[in-house]
Amino acid sequence: MSLLIRNGEIITATDRYSADIYCADETITRIGHDLDVPPDTPVIDAAGKWVVPGFIDPHVHIYLPFLGTYAKDTYETASRAALMGGTTTLIEMICPNKEQDLLETCAFWQEQAAGRSACDYTYHMGVPRFDPRVQAQLTEIIAQGIPSLKIFLAYKDLAHLSDAELYALLCFAKEAGVIVTGHCENADLIVALQQRLLQDGKTGPEWHYHSRPPAVEAAGTAHFLAFAQLTEATVYVVHLSCREALQATLRARQSGVRAYVETVLPHLVLDSTAAEQPDFEGAKYVMSPPLRPAPHQTALWNGLRQGFIHTVATDHAPFDFHGQKDRGRADFTQIPNGIPSLEERVKLLYTAGVCQDRIDVHTWINCASTQAARLFGLYPRKGTIQPGADADLVIFDPHHSSVISAATHAMNVDYSAYEGWPVKGRAETVTVRGKIVVEQGRYTGVPGHGRFLTRAPQTF
Ligand code: URP
Ligand code: ZN
Ligand code: ZN
Repeated sequence: MSLLIRNGEIITATDRYSADIYCADETITRIGHDLDVPPDTPVIDAAGKWVVPGFIDPHVHIYLPFLGTYAKDTYETASRAALMGGTTTLIEMICPNKEQDLLETCAFWQEQAAGRSACDYTYHMGVPRFDPRVQAQLTEIIAQGIPSLKIFLAYKDLAHLSDAELYALLCFAKEAGVIVTGHCENADLIVALQQRLLQDGKTGPEWHYHSRPPAVEAAGTAHFLAFAQLTEATVYVVHLSCREALQATLRARQSGVRAYVETVLPHLVLDSTAAEQPDFEGAKYVMSPPLRPAPHQTALWNGLRQGFIHTVATDHAPFDFHGQKDRGRADFTQIPNGIPSLEERVKLLYTAGVCQDRIDVHTWINCASTQAARLFGLYPRKGTIQPGADADLVIFDPHHSSVISAATHAMNVDYSAYEGWPVKGRAETVTVRGKIVVEQGRYTGVPGHGRFLTRAPQTF
């Protein structure tokens, strides 16, 4: 399978220039002008368009049991939505509960993707408890090519890790050369606040925010980072949403903690008023940590522009409004958490970020692709355009206009959190290892083309 992309403007996290790209045997083999290629090579004319690295979403949920129900996407639907949005690699969270065997869970999660995914994928391995048996199992999972872990300082009794376990896990991670990603809140505080709100008759989705205010997230973040400091482990704070938590990461980084920061699309473009909408509409916007008042968004955009926030993911977790979110009509703590965004991340980050001059085009590519590749052991195979890299390319039309709607999106969920929003830019044509999976905005992907990406531990 070979392909020539001509006349495009190549943009990466660092460079911008005009050249043609020749892809063969799944990789980019040559970049230049007037390339001499075999006569029958298929050609894409990218004149007037940008050619950018395939985007990487480092935090998604596809198979996700939550409060007695399951996230709606399958690998067929999720990978299709990812590719339609320009995301060619996704990293899914494997989320075992405290009772489940880690090796079995890891194998089960992989079965959900094998033969079904049209885009490439890998995982962060969730660790809901830690003991010598778990340590042995993690050693095996890392050897299978999954050298990144996930812990929760939330979801008490389900996935939450105790302090003793957190300390032992981070010591192990440091030794093994793996990065530990963390959902940072304070699980006990959340339970106490939820109980008090419910006792006071505050049951609607608008109260979710008040059960997890910025102080709760800042406490969890500082806690995680203190443990990282003591153990010298490399950590990654997922879905950071507020100024106070960002300040905690800045303080820690100043004292030498190896900490990286992710924010997610919903926290950049939606604010807490979305979850205050009447008639239970606010439930569509319930996620954890919650959407924040608008000034926090400014802090997040500044953090991205200044390099204090490294990646933008989605935390894609699709639950239908009808039949799933509405399980929490009488009690906000029963609303499945998540705001589906996998398909919209790249273009909304472009629209709200680049087009509104909050970040430049290189930062857009860096935080939505290159940094995730670097942090999670995929670089330079993914996340950039250079000879030898996988031919994961997006021909992006920066002038395209469209309107987001659940009626036309590819995600398997009955609402869009961005319904009716006008957006700029489109992943017009997308390749995964040289195969065209989106052509002129039309999906041509094939379930099973996507490959599990094995990764190795690294030094940070
Ligand atoms: O609201 C969220 N974030 N849902 C998915 C689970 C998690 O905490 O990442
Ligand atoms: Zn989380
Ligand atoms: Zn998540």
